[in-house]
Amino acid sequence: MADGRGWTLDGAEIITLAVDRSGTLPGQLQRVTDERLSLRDGQVRLRIDRFSLSANNLTYALLGERMGYWALFPVGEPWGIVPVWGFATVTESADDRIAPDERLYGLWPMASEAVLEPGRVNARLIVENSPHRRALPPAYNSYFRLASDPIHVPGSEDRQAVLRPLFITSFLLDRGVAAAAESDTVIVTSASSKTALGLGWLLQNRPGKRSIGVTSPRNRDAVAALELFDAVTTYDDLPRSDGAMIIDFSGDRDMLGRLRGNGTGSQLCRVGMTHWRDGSEDLTPSGAHDQFFFAPDAIVKTVAELGPAGFDAALADATRAFIAASRPWLGIETVRGSEAIGEAWARLRFGSGDPTSAIVASF
Ligand SMILES: NC(=O)c1ccc[n+]([C@@H]2O[C@H](COP(=O)([O-])OP(=O)(O)OC[C@H]3O[C@@H](n4cnc5c(N)ncnc54)[C@H](OP(=O)(O)O)[C@@H]3O)[C@@H](O)[C@H]2O)c1
Repeated sequence: MADGRGWTLDGAEIITLAVDRSGTLPGQLQRVTDERLSLRDGQVRLRIDRFSLSANNLTYALLGERMGYWALFPVGEPWGIVPVWGFATVTESADDRIAPDERLYGLWPMASEAVLEPGRVNARLIVENSPHRRALPPAYNSYFRLASDPIHVPGSEDRQAVLRPLFITSFLLDRGVAAAAESDTVIVTSASSKTALGLGWLLQNRPGKRSIGVTSPRNRDAVAALELFDAVTTYDDLPRSDGAMIIDFSGDRDMLGRLRGNGTGSQLCRVGMTHWRDGSEDLTPSGAHDQFFFAPDAIVKTVAELGPAGFDAALADATRAFIAASRPWLGIETVRGSEAIGEAWARLRFGSGDPTSAIVASF
C-alpha cells in the first residue's frame, strides 16, 4: 500500500470516539463501539488511515449544533462525533465506479472506519450524497482521489493531514487581505495557531502589507523565532490598530475590545475561537464592519473567481510549498489508539499545545 499504515482492520471491531453533546462542550472523548453493517448498494467502506487533531476540531465540537457539524456523522444520543481531516483507504465497495484500495483525502468521523454513499464521481473527486449530508457545504462532502490529486505528495501524508485543512483557510484569507487595499497593517491574533502561521507565511509575499502576530506570552518567543510575521507581540501588550485589518482566530471578545480600542477604523474578520472554553459564547458581530469568515463559503466564491482549474492549481502550488517550508520547524507527533487519542484531545482542550508541533492520530 502506497502510503497507508500497512495494517488491516478486517474482522476487527469498529472503534468510534465521540463526545457527550448534552454535557459541557468540547467534552472528553469516549469510546462508542459500532456494529459493522453490510453495505447497501452504492455504498463504500473505508479504513481511516490517519487524521490530524488541532484546535480546529475543538471548534467543530463547540459549534457542533450551531454550524451543523454533528450532522456529518450522526450517532445515537447523547453522542456527537467530531469530524477530522485525513486519509482513508477503500476496503469494500458496492459502487462499480470505486475499487478497493483506492485512497481518499477528506473529512472523516473520529473512527477506525467509515461508510460513504457516493453521488457524483469524477476523476478528481467523489461527492458524498447521504441524505443527512446534502445540506452541508460542498467542501465537507468532497473526497479527493489521491491518484489525481494535485496537492498529494506520497510520503508526506502526516504533514498533509495537519496542514492541508488549515492552510486552505490561510490561502483564502491571504487573498482577502490582498483585496483590502485600504489596510496596510494586518493584525493576526492567536498567531501561534497553524492556520495563522500559514497566513503569516503567505503575507510575507504581499508587498506593502505589514503583519503583526499577537499571541500568548508563553508562545511569543516560539512564534517570533519563526520570523513569519513582521512583528510579534502578546495579549498583554496589544499593538495600535488604526486602520488595520484584524484577522481573529481567538474569538476572545474582551481582548478584541481592547485591541480595537487601541486605535480607530479597524476592520475585524472573525475566523476562529481558540480561546473559547465552552460552546455558549456569542457569535453575533460586534461592529458594522465585522465579518464572519467561513472557509466553505469562501471556497465557493474563490472558485467562481478563478475557475475550478485555476483554483486547484493556485491552491495546490501554495499548499505544497507551505508543506515543504514547514519541514524545518513543524514537528509531527503521532498518536495511536483510542487511549492516546483521548489524551491528545485532552491536551488540546487544556491548551498545552506547542506552535511547532502538531498531532496526527490513527487507530
Ligand atoms: N472559519 C473557518 O472557516 C475556519 C477555518 C479553519 C480554521 N478555523 C479556526 O482557526 C482556529 C485555529 O485553528 P488551528 O487548528 O490552526 O489551531 P492550532 O494550531 O491547534 O492552535 C491553537 C492555538 O490556540 C491557542 N490556544 C489553544 N488552547 C488554548 C487555551 N486553552 N487557552 C488559550 N489559548 C489557547 C494558542 O494560540 P495563542 O497562544 O497564539 O492564542 C494555540 O496555539 C480554530 O478556532 C479553527 O476552528 C476557522
